[in-house]
Amino acid sequence: NSADIGVTGMAVMGSNLARNLARNGFKVAIHNRSVGRTEKVIENHSEDGQFLPSESMDDFVASLQKPRVAIIMVQAGAATDAVIEELASRMDEGDIIVDCGNALFTDTRRREADLRERGLHFVGAGVSGGEEGALNGPSIMPGGPVESYKRVGPMFEKIAAQVDGDPCCTHVGADGAGHFVKMVHNGIEYADMQVISEAYDMMNKALGMSAPEIGEVFEEWNKGELESFLIEITAEVLKHKDNVTGKPFVDIVQDRAAQKGTGAWTVQTALDFGVPVTGIAEATFARSTSGSVKQREAAIGVLPAETQDQTVEDRDRQQFIEDLQKALYAAKLVSYSQGFDEIAAGAEHYEWDINLGDMAKIWRGGCIIRARFLNHITEAYKRNPDLHLLLADEYFRGEIASCIPAWRRVVAYAAANGFSVPVFTSTLSYYDAVRSERLPAALVQAQRDFFGAHTYRRVDADGSFHVEWTGDRTETKISD
Ligand code: 6PG
Repeated sequence: NSADIGVTGMAVMGSNLARNLARNGFKVAIHNRSVGRTEKVIENHSEDGQFLPSESMDDFVASLQKPRVAIIMVQAGAATDAVIEELASRMDEGDIIVDCGNALFTDTRRREADLRERGLHFVGAGVSGGEEGALNGPSIMPGGPVESYKRVGPMFEKIAAQVDGDPCCTHVGADGAGHFVKMVHNGIEYADMQVISEAYDMMNKALGMSAPEIGEVFEEWNKGELESFLIEITAEVLKHKDNVTGKPFVDIVQDRAAQKGTGAWTVQTALDFGVPVTGIAEATFARSTSGSVKQREAAIGVLPAETQDQTVEDRDRQQFIEDLQKALYAAKLVSYSQGFDEIAAGAEHYEWDINLGDMAKIWRGGCIIRARFLNHITEAYKRNPDLHLLLADEYFRGEIASCIPAWRRVVAYAAANGFSVPVFTSTLSYYDAVRSERLPAALVQAQRDFFGAHTYRRVDADGSFHVEWTGDRTETKISD
């Protein structure tokens, strides 16, 4: 009469995950620090399936079938450590603790190592899809030991979103791999959201279109290669009218974007690895710029614009909108390519056996960045498992080729007319850098050698060299 699995933390995400498990025929033990929330689930949702409510941690752990599986769904950070300890001290060898919160992957690695020493399994699982996904089928990215996936995998695969008969869940890799991939997912989410907002901003300001009109455009775009959850909800948001004023809803929202940290983690980690995730970084900084209230106050109406103020002729409007659509697609492809570079770098550094194609596959449904084009990423890695640059895949090369003129026009127009489009711009800049035969990095190296004797490599000989800049400027070979 014991439960297949337990969930502790009955806020919306936790209770929705528990309900999803119950709806899929699992007997679910549920627990929350304050009993009220547990009672609410029983009161309102007992028709979902079988719940075993517990008032205490002792009862909760005791109600689980061995080897026990307990999911933690609490605020990431100190709360997670506290709950892990409460569970671990009551568990037996081979039991499994699963953290489905947005934990920092290095915390997950530490927790996994600690619990492994105590004979317990720790699975850090990225879960995406918000409240709705948790209830009806999220994308799940579990890390941790392979053995524990044998126990939790089938349950997770059952409750995950399903696309073309495949679950949006797979074992990502050891220890923190699942949370690492979820982190990059969120970074990509930031870039996607920002670049969509840049397209909106240009339609609004350059073409003078109203929010609902722009909503119509996104609705159209959602029928093509841009088809995705984020484009879909953008159309809905833009068409929504504020209940109080009757104005377009987006117009009454303060223009300051908040962030809970996963985008910044993605950028910080990329910096540590030296992976240029410029689209994600600019998207993250764009939120920071929007929130830099004092700086904005000091600049608005004060800093000169000196823009060209080109008006878009009526006959060019359609072309302008099509350009934005293509620029958006190209910028998005670069952001994803950069994100996959970061996953590859993480996998190499931490020796995770991550199948990149499978990551795109489990993002096709359930998660916030779910999109039609993800299939093509899976196919690209199938064609070439050693692909070093997603953009260089034959399919994506062709896709981006058809967007380049439009992308350049959008960035040039934005620069000339004073629109801030950091993701459009930075992704194009990256694209031109990565395909460039020769970069000005040569000059940077020369400067480094000048002021710091940091040495340089020659194009025509092996080894590292240094010039006596302050002396007779002879060159010395420093090492082979
Ligand atoms: C998801 C979301 C989810 C959450 C983010 C938002 O995949 O379901 O990414 O994790 O919405 O925490 O992050 P910000 O609050 O930083 O925008």
